[in-house]
Amino acid sequence: MAVILDGKSLANLIKEDLKKQVARLKEQGITPGLAAILVGEGEGSVTYVNSKQRACEKLGIYSQVHELSEDTTQEELTNLIINLNHQAHIHGILVQLPLPGHIDKYAVMDRIHKLKDVDGFRRYNQSRLYRGEDCFEPCTPKGILTLLDYYKIPIEGKHVVIVGRSDIIGKPLYHMMLKRNATITQCHSRTADLAGYTRQADILVAAIGKPRYITKDMVREGAVVIDVGINRAYETLDGHKKIVGDVDFDNVKNIASHITPVPYGVGPMTIVSLIQNTLKAAHIHSDLQKRQIGLASIQ
Ligand code: GUN
Repeated sequence: MAVILDGKSLANLIKEDLKKQVARLKEQGITPGLAAILVGEGEGSVTYVNSKQRACEKLGIYSQVHELSEDTTQEELTNLIINLNHQAHIHGILVQLPLPGHIDKYAVMDRIHKLKDVDGFRRYNQSRLYRGEDCFEPCTPKGILTLLDYYKIPIEGKHVVIVGRSDIIGKPLYHMMLKRNATITQCHSRTADLAGYTRQADILVAAIGKPRYITKDMVREGAVVIDVGINRAYETLDGHKKIVGDVDFDNVKNIASHITPVPYGVGPMTIVSLIQNTLKAAHIHSDLQKRQIGLASIQ
């Protein structure tokens, strides 16, 4: 039976430290502030933004949620971001994805001030990540690495197989694993013989969005399995909707060496990473303020 990588407990442990950091910032007259923008009412997005807001409140971080209607225009969204870029008490800005189809998400992301881009989705931060430079690292991949490090799971020299190539998880995780000297195979929906690759993984990351897609026969004995899936699958037995991952947990746990549960694995780590990035932004802004450098003078 695999060791369960308990993201919830680790997130709670890290939050204790973050609470102290927030208190220290407040002593210096700085209350870290995060603005989240939600366009439309996607079920997962609303839940996710609410969890982020709750976490902020618990830690003493100021948080705003801007709920915009599904038919918000590109211009309205851009204007809100420009406005938030100018507000000194907002240190981080997050635009919840996915956005409605009529909005150019890349153009939106690129309007977020580079020092408020706590999701790390702006082109500037993406290129720094690509180069291996210090940047705001996207929250889910950052949370995965924090979890692996806490459980002392080596990454260097290991074969990491990532199933998924999204801008939010698969692509940034590739670069972060490369920086840690892993050998990476990136698989996706068009990969031929997927199981042939997943069976070679020392660390297998499933970020596909298909319930229980990774079955026991696709996993090498002793592999570390990270499940990023949050699928609201219909459970026929009890008739309730239950959240399940991309991995067939009940069977895979018997052959993996370590595995993340869903829920309470990667999910809480994503939120903790967002808070870490918001505090990082608050520290950067505070240093600039001490040096009398205005954020507006930095492009
Ligand atoms: N949608 C799903 N995950 C994320 C995330 O980490 N950040 C944002 N902004 N949207 C998401």
